[in-house]
Amino acid sequence: MNREDFPMLKQDIIYLDNGATSLKPQSVLDAMQDYYENYSANAHRGDYDISFKVDLEYENARDKVVNFINAQDRAEVIFTSGATESLNMIASGFFAPLLEAGDEIIITTSEHASNVLPWFRLARNKGVKIKYLPLDDNYHVTLENLKSVISSNTKVIALAAITNVIGDVRPIKEITKLAHENGIFVVVDGAQSVAHMKTDVQDWDIDFLAFSAHKMLGPTGTGVLYGKKELLENMEPVNLGGGMNESFDNENAIYLKDLPTRLEAGTPNIAGVIGLGAAIDYLEKIGMDKIRERELHLRNYLVEKLIKIPHIDLLNLEADSGIVAFNVDGVFSQDVAYYLNKYNICVRAGNHCAKLIKNAIGVTNSVRVSLYFYNTENEIDTLVDLLKDKAKIMEEMI
Ligand code: ALA
Repeated sequence: MNREDFPMLKQDIIYLDNGATSLKPQSVLDAMQDYYENYSANAHRGDYDISFKVDLEYENARDKVVNFINAQDRAEVIFTSGATESLNMIASGFFAPLLEAGDEIIITTSEHASNVLPWFRLARNKGVKIKYLPLDDNYHVTLENLKSVISSNTKVIALAAITNVIGDVRPIKEITKLAHENGIFVVVDGAQSVAHMKTDVQDWDIDFLAFSAHKMLGPTGTGVLYGKKELLENMEPVNLGGGMNESFDNENAIYLKDLPTRLEAGTPNIAGVIGLGAAIDYLEKIGMDKIRERELHLRNYLVEKLIKIPHIDLLNLEADSGIVAFNVDGVFSQDVAYYLNKYNICVRAGNHCAKLIKNAIGVTNSVRVSLYFYNTENEIDTLVDLLKDKAKIMEEMI
């Protein structure tokens, strides 16, 4: 589907590492190149025509994000360097000043490092407590299990909408309803979900969302922090500097701009933001429902073949996303990845930055295939043929 739009696919590769980063269509590359070639001035600073064009394109990209995630107000969309920075800003800029010793934050063992380590820092520095929501037998989140860990001290629930190893899709709307009934904030790590399913922050009613452009056809080094306006109004800027202040005279007289600029100190990644806008145009042209449908079709196609191979241990049979994690019996996951690389197949192997997941699934490393709409049944056939032959894997690995 749409393969001709992706220059990388002209190479002789089978790219199955979309959870790490997606490929970029020509239209995204063109939009960024156009900025650098034709109007590469700074944003929000100049009084001349090309600088006005920068502001127009940069703010236009913000409007595209607002529509894409259905935010209520453009003040709710802050451009960052990626999901990691967004989650750190949420933890350090909003929750660090708010939480007190004894308050509790609920996460799971299947979160990515970016949705664990910023909370660990709060635990260490502020004495807040991290609680783990127990996963069910398929490593999924259930409302019953969530109820079992909520207490009167719980202040935050921070979860990925789709996890990066298990690939389970969390019932965010229901989780948020339960959380808000108990006065708890909900932070959603959308790094693995925003490119793969419709995100509706108003329908879900979540308080914060973090995601990265590079996993959704956009460039690296760009991302989004979404927060409800009344919450962002109370967020301490983690970075202070140019662009975000109205004026200053001395350390006691610093006047900051309004949202969203207040939380975007320094020259932003202008080309990146414009590229993200072009990526959203591209995704919307296909339609998020169609993308999800295509991915689930490819997932089922792959899983039906993998379950027939006796030496493959599938770790997430029940997941409903394009992420398929498995091991080949008796073979180290990275050796499987090197073997597939000989045939120009790109997969990820290891712990995938989710270093707590071993506590739930009892396996430290795995091979991860992460699909996107431009993958094909033929590519999956080639992968499966190579995985079928264990003697060949043993002979050729390394
Ligand atoms: N977070 C990215 C992944 O899961 C890098 O591969």
